[in-house]
Amino acid sequence: MKEPIGIEYVPHISWQITSDLPGIMQESYRIQLSTYKDFSTIVWDSGRIESDCQIQVCVGYDKLKSAMRYYVRVMVWAGGFMSDWSGAVSFVTGLVVPDQWSAPYVSAERMEDHDVSKGTYVRGDFHVDGHVEQAYLFATALGLYIPYMNGQRVSDIEMAPGWTSYNRNRLYQVYEVTDVVQEGKNTVGAMIGCGWYKGVMGLTKARNNYGDTSAVSMEVWLRYADGHIERVYSDKDWIGADAPIVFSEIYDGETYDAAMEIDNWCIPFNDNRVDGRWRTCRLLSSDASILHGQAGGFVRVNGRIPASQLIRTPKGETVVDFGQNMAGRIEVSCSGRAGDVIEIRCFETLDAQGNVYVDNLRKAKTTMRYTFAKDGQICWSPSFTFMGFRYGHILSFPGEPSIENFTALVLHTDMEETGSFSTSNPLVNQLHHNIVWGMKSNFLDVPTDCPQRDERLGWTGDAQIFSRTASYLMNVDTFFRKWLRDLEADQTPEGGVPHVIPNIEEGRTDGNWLLSQGPHSAAAWADAAVIIPWNLYLMYGDTQVLYKQFASMEGWIRFMEHHSEDYIWNYKLQFGDWVALDAKEGSYFGATPNDLTCTAYFAYSTELFAKICHILGKEEKENYYRRLYGHIKEKFIATFFTKEGQLTAQTQTAHIIALHFNLVPEHFREGIANRLTELLAKENGHLVTGFVGTPYFCQALGESGKVREAYELLLKDDFPSWLYQVKMGATTVWEHWDGLKPDGTMWSAEMNSFNHYAYGAIGEWLYRSVAGIDTDENHPGFGHILFRPLVNPAFSEIDCTYKSIRGDITVQWKWADTKTVFLTIQIPCNCTGEVKLPAGIGWEKAENGQDMTVEKRLLSGRYRWIGRL
Ligand code: BGC
Repeated sequence: MKEPIGIEYVPHISWQITSDLPGIMQESYRIQLSTYKDFSTIVWDSGRIESDCQIQVCVGYDKLKSAMRYYVRVMVWAGGFMSDWSGAVSFVTGLVVPDQWSAPYVSAERMEDHDVSKGTYVRGDFHVDGHVEQAYLFATALGLYIPYMNGQRVSDIEMAPGWTSYNRNRLYQVYEVTDVVQEGKNTVGAMIGCGWYKGVMGLTKARNNYGDTSAVSMEVWLRYADGHIERVYSDKDWIGADAPIVFSEIYDGETYDAAMEIDNWCIPFNDNRVDGRWRTCRLLSSDASILHGQAGGFVRVNGRIPASQLIRTPKGETVVDFGQNMAGRIEVSCSGRAGDVIEIRCFETLDAQGNVYVDNLRKAKTTMRYTFAKDGQICWSPSFTFMGFRYGHILSFPGEPSIENFTALVLHTDMEETGSFSTSNPLVNQLHHNIVWGMKSNFLDVPTDCPQRDERLGWTGDAQIFSRTASYLMNVDTFFRKWLRDLEADQTPEGGVPHVIPNIEEGRTDGNWLLSQGPHSAAAWADAAVIIPWNLYLMYGDTQVLYKQFASMEGWIRFMEHHSEDYIWNYKLQFGDWVALDAKEGSYFGATPNDLTCTAYFAYSTELFAKICHILGKEEKENYYRRLYGHIKEKFIATFFTKEGQLTAQTQTAHIIALHFNLVPEHFREGIANRLTELLAKENGHLVTGFVGTPYFCQALGESGKVREAYELLLKDDFPSWLYQVKMGATTVWEHWDGLKPDGTMWSAEMNSFNHYAYGAIGEWLYRSVAGIDTDENHPGFGHILFRPLVNPAFSEIDCTYKSIRGDITVQWKWADTKTVFLTIQIPCNCTGEVKLPAGIGWEKAENGQDMTVEKRLLSGRYRWIGRL
């Protein structure tokens, strides 16, 4: 978080050091905290601390006040120099204990609106008497809301308060409104939608999953010049009305009737005139103890894409094309006459004939509709929904549409882009682009499987598989921490982890076959509970998340232990190697047996958890789980290997996970790796793996010395392969290898997303192995960087930068000719690196001002090598 607003504790501070000089290590630091930007008064000063820590540094100040802006600055001593003070960054507090949330929820919905998903307005007035120095609006909703004050929208945050396990964990947002409040009469209010809270959601298409009434709860904190504070709450005097959003749901889209607009609905009424459209609000009470400040990771419009073309399909349909599959909305600007209607159906692909294809959206209507109230020009986009689309089918439009009428608004959570990766191969570059866009499309407050069909759920497996890739592409610490809190909140008392988080399917066993045996605890899916916190620790040095999730992680390991039999774990419905191509015709379940995939993940998560116990200094537990891991591994080997050292399951995936999870006895390793290449050759060099095997295929090959085979697999471009999709025109990553087959036919519309990030997990291999930028688990957050670039003629050049929490890490290579390659790496200040160069190439240092090494570790700076074949 860069400038958190609504934070309830003193944030941990991280900083970066830049220098033109090489070999810079930090000797000490000093942090100051102030309530003034110019630091004229200091509320806390660390003094000079001898330490090389620069990330996740704890500020020992415990007197925070609620609704207050604080400034932080840092100075370091490094490489024998003293820096200037850094620029000031600020954070704004939310409710700091013991201040309680006191505002009730207010709703303009009537009893008869329970089964209706429409928009409403609510508003209330307050008086300001004197000069206000700081003013903050605190708000949350049952449903979705957009806050307003004195006639203006006060924030560009979308889809607030986001989707959480609402009845256990609800987020509030804080908005600075110092420049919006005025002396005298003020009006504060919100437009409210139903969203995830009460609209139709989930596999069973149930509505009112968390409640049947949408409402908002708001507080204004006024900090006057004389220091006194006034709190204003939404209350019984608030009034409400129907908004022009006459229908809005996540899956089905939004309908807007401009005739229902109320001009200036959120400004003080001069004469206390309230017309018949307004009514008294209902008050709802709710448990305030489940509220937490969100502080960061908000959803916003993070991109605008102009329409690229208008298409007339063979069937005569008019279609607008944005050239990129995404999640978001379409903004329409055009003129029309009273009664004219704009109606657009959003969808992601055309069929083989070039006509509109919506079957794979299943029941999602994904339609936006606007009715003009009067003649004139409008600019409109929906407020409380999003769609997964590249195209819009224009079903109704005032006059002839042209591309200037349409702009796509790209919606996703705020995340700093941290990865850039380009090579000499344009298809691989497009693959990287598709992975990034798969992520943008599915990191919309929760990590979803897909953004388009009637699903869009926080499937744990998809998130787990993709999480490491995601953490190279963008800074996802805040995003995943938020979601992990819900994972914990929704775990079963026994520690079982739901298939989807937030668990909208809680308690359901019918209505959809995926829930037939209960809605939780599948291997590779539920393991998100351990693997994602571990990834955040590795990538961001985030030890806090390990503390926070400790009980959740242990609960999950205990669950597996409890339900395993003699260390073989399997449980109810498992997804196994989901949608692998070695499945029986038409089946979703790959050929690798569940006993094997489940036990492999049981071992993997247990091993990680034992390491986590060690990091947190929990020795007894560490010993316990190390022993447990030993037993599982032993049993895995005894059960799934023949005496001759073959795996009982002759699938690619069985070999991949046995190798990658280190479950192969040393003396069998070579044989198993060779067998994996044979299984690959049997398919003509193609993968037939699903969700479990695919993410680690290239890693398992590379780690076993089969680098050539790993590159060949990545670079395959006929069916099925990553680059096949690219060649078929994909702009995001597909759910199925055979989503669109070479003959133009498609996999069953029942489950055929063209925007599923799971197989984008190959991104991890690109950054971690091809560029070779890897973490050292003893120095997380890239304190010590393991450089293992797989320099290879497969790419005549690559250029990769990862913006780590400590600074930019770069790896580049370029073949000057078929025999000579130049390799450059860059290490940020206060980091060390260790470089392992590929064998088979003769390496020598090209240029290196001075020898910047300590104990064979390279210090910060830029290094170059020449390699000769
Ligand atoms: C989702 C997948 C998910 C799976 C579970 C599907 O409907 O789209 O991505 O992980 O169900 O098997």
